[in-house]
Amino acid sequence: MISSVLTAAWYQRRLFAEGRVVIMNGSFKAVRVTDHVWWVGALDWNLREFHGYTTERGTTYNAFLVVGDAITLIDAVKAPFKDEMLARVASVCDPDDVRYIVSNHSEMDHSGCLPALVDQLKPEKVFASVNGVKALEAHFGAVDHLEAVKDGQELGLGGLHFSFYETRMLHWPDSMVTLLAEDKLLFSQDAFGMHLASGERFADEIDASILEQEARKYFANILMPFAGLVPRTIQRLGGLDFKIIAPDHGPIWREEPAHIVGRYAAWAAQRPTTKAVIVYDTMWGSTDMMAHALAEGVISGGAEAKLMPLREHSRSAVATEVLEAGALAIGSPTLNNQVFPTVADVMTYLLGLGPKNLIGVAFGSYGWSGNAVSLLNGQLDAMGIERIHDGLSVQYVPNRAALDDCRRLGVQLAEALKVRVR
Ligand code: FEO
Repeated sequence: MISSVLTAAWYQRRLFAEGRVVIMNGSFKAVRVTDHVWWVGALDWNLREFHGYTTERGTTYNAFLVVGDAITLIDAVKAPFKDEMLARVASVCDPDDVRYIVSNHSEMDHSGCLPALVDQLKPEKVFASVNGVKALEAHFGAVDHLEAVKDGQELGLGGLHFSFYETRMLHWPDSMVTLLAEDKLLFSQDAFGMHLASGERFADEIDASILEQEARKYFANILMPFAGLVPRTIQRLGGLDFKIIAPDHGPIWREEPAHIVGRYAAWAAQRPTTKAVIVYDTMWGSTDMMAHALAEGVISGGAEAKLMPLREHSRSAVATEVLEAGALAIGSPTLNNQVFPTVADVMTYLLGLGPKNLIGVAFGSYGWSGNAVSLLNGQLDAMGIERIHDGLSVQYVPNRAALDDCRRLGVQLAEALKVRVR
């Protein structure tokens, strides 16, 4: 193992000269996590979109090297980042010495480089869950030396003890976590992660408000559809002996890992709050006027209003607010007999995420056919959101009386919210 920075840089240069790592960059160094574990992942500073999820702070693809008598790589990275990962591996050991790879999750941001990695490093074994083997083969065809591990199976690799636990549908059918007994470290794949590129590798080095914001956003946009499975998984993982959680995105939780586990339990419960999220778009300002009047009513009724015009807010920001809300008010003008496209987009996204325990209402302006509100009512019903009103439609531009109706509806929404959280 290479311990000094100077030796690591020399080693990287030698591997680069031999063509065994493509990137020769002294800044790509591994970061020590525990006695046996190094972070060897990649930083994607420029990522701004992750399958529909807006990632203002970029992301990390975490991979970990476990160094015992033999070397095991836990997870990999998105395909374009393979050589950055290998450069970090090369700051610890000869990449050719990686004997085992564990694939906790087969989504492309972690397995994208796996076929090329297996070709290059020729590990003795690549371990994945039973569903992980199927998923990797469905993505890439045959993968050399791929072997399934069962739920709860223990393996000794390089004199260290690993055990594997399926976390199906958190958030894919193949998902599993891996426990390294000697270091009491849980490799948790996507769970407990966040999209955050940073120079710091540990959560205790990062501002707590950023951690809260990005972890909540990750839960809302990735895990909300499976929130019902979270309590059982937390209960099961709670029976394992770990003191560090190392997810596949974002920082490592080495101090108080119970904090993020507790936040997951709270988010999974989706207890209603007195916050009404008012989401809308507008053509000529009329629906915007209605949204503002509705917000005034909510506030004057003693509840919290969060106004989210879709020209300013992404669908993933809306989902994040909805996770900790009690009501969704959705507003759209009628455009060609339909809901406005940006509103249709966010409603499709929310329908998939399936937020729970919300009440709701629809509103919007129209010219000669007011279909948008009735269409939105149907979408709220499909989402299981309890509507407190049949919705407000206003032709062309709302007059004073129409805006008073919006304010009264806001007060009604606030009263209903307060009753629900009492
Ligand atoms: Fe980070 Fe589900 O992939």
